[in-house]
Amino acid sequence: MTFRLTRALPPDDTAAALRADVLHGLTRTPKTLPPKWLYDAHGSELFEQITQLPTYPVWRAELGLLRLHARDIGEQTKARSLIELGSGSSSEKTRLLLDALPGLHTYVPVDVSESALRQAGQTLLIERPALSVHALIADFTAALTLPQTPGPRLVAFLGSTIGNLLPAERATFLTSVRALLAPGDALLLGTDLVKDESVLVAAYDDALTAKFDKNVLAVINRELGADFDPDAFAHVALWDAGHEWIEMRLRSLTEQTVKIPALGLAVDFADGEDLRTEISAKFRVQGVRRELAAAGLTLEHVWTSPGQGYGLALAAPSRAGTRTEHATSGSTGLQAKGLPS
Ligand code: AVJ
Repeated sequence: MTFRLTRALPPDDTAAALRADVLHGLTRTPKTLPPKWLYDAHGSELFEQITQLPTYPVWRAELGLLRLHARDIGEQTKARSLIELGSGSSSEKTRLLLDALPGLHTYVPVDVSESALRQAGQTLLIERPALSVHALIADFTAALTLPQTPGPRLVAFLGSTIGNLLPAERATFLTSVRALLAPGDALLLGTDLVKDESVLVAAYDDALTAKFDKNVLAVINRELGADFDPDAFAHVALWDAGHEWIEMRLRSLTEQTVKIPALGLAVDFADGEDLRTEISAKFRVQGVRRELAAAGLTLEHVWTSPGQGYGLALAAPSRAGTRTEHATSGSTGLQAKGLPS
């Protein structure tokens, strides 16, 4: 097998993006931070622990669906390239897909974490001697650039990570994914579904998730020299029924001022003021179909878990002329660019 690693992200990009996001997010009302900053090494470790909580069904439900249906996915797509967005160190779920794709030529894990990608490559080197791995250090929420690999391509975006994007961000993201697909290619999309409010909230309202949430403050302290006191904030998980999303927030327990020297900034928090750290949207199959269609993608199949708690959607590029009116009303200008191979 061959292992290649391509950096599609300038080395100092991450630091600059964090500064910009913190400056923008903490000087606006209400205060917000993008959820991606929750995932430094410690945050990723905490998230892995969350996936094992009995109250957090999202990760397990998707694993169960892949165990049952990876073979169908393999047969329907016959993919020769598997592109996994936000692959992390490549999980048990990735294995299920790899095993279900006998004709697979190249696996392209895409992640912002170089160490995770190297780890994935090393493990696969041993397990799958015939497989070519071309890892890509990239932020999939920005414009996507992929290496040239043989078709058909299957792009996988698992874990309901799409739920962490705002609706407008999702539209942009799906449009840029659509631009990567040729006829015969497919998108496999994991989506947590709307269910009983108490079940939804319980998945985000525990001591471990509180630690995970507060970890973003430790990231800002370390990277930007800030003096956030995690104990001066409470973790809050709430269901926004209008938007059909969970919000994680950090609520200031007192009136306080936090200094962020790297930005020359002092941020005032009122007693009880919230900082939104994540949205986690929950979906309905009709909504998934509509969002896909608006991006030029046709929902071909959806597998749902018992009780309809989770959905795995398989979508294909819509044939020309089958786009909905909604989809043709605007272009994001995002283009797929092939990387030199
Ligand atoms: C990254 C989408 C899988 O939104 O459920 C878990 C992250 N946040 N607990 C989610 C998360 C709080 C998670 N995903």
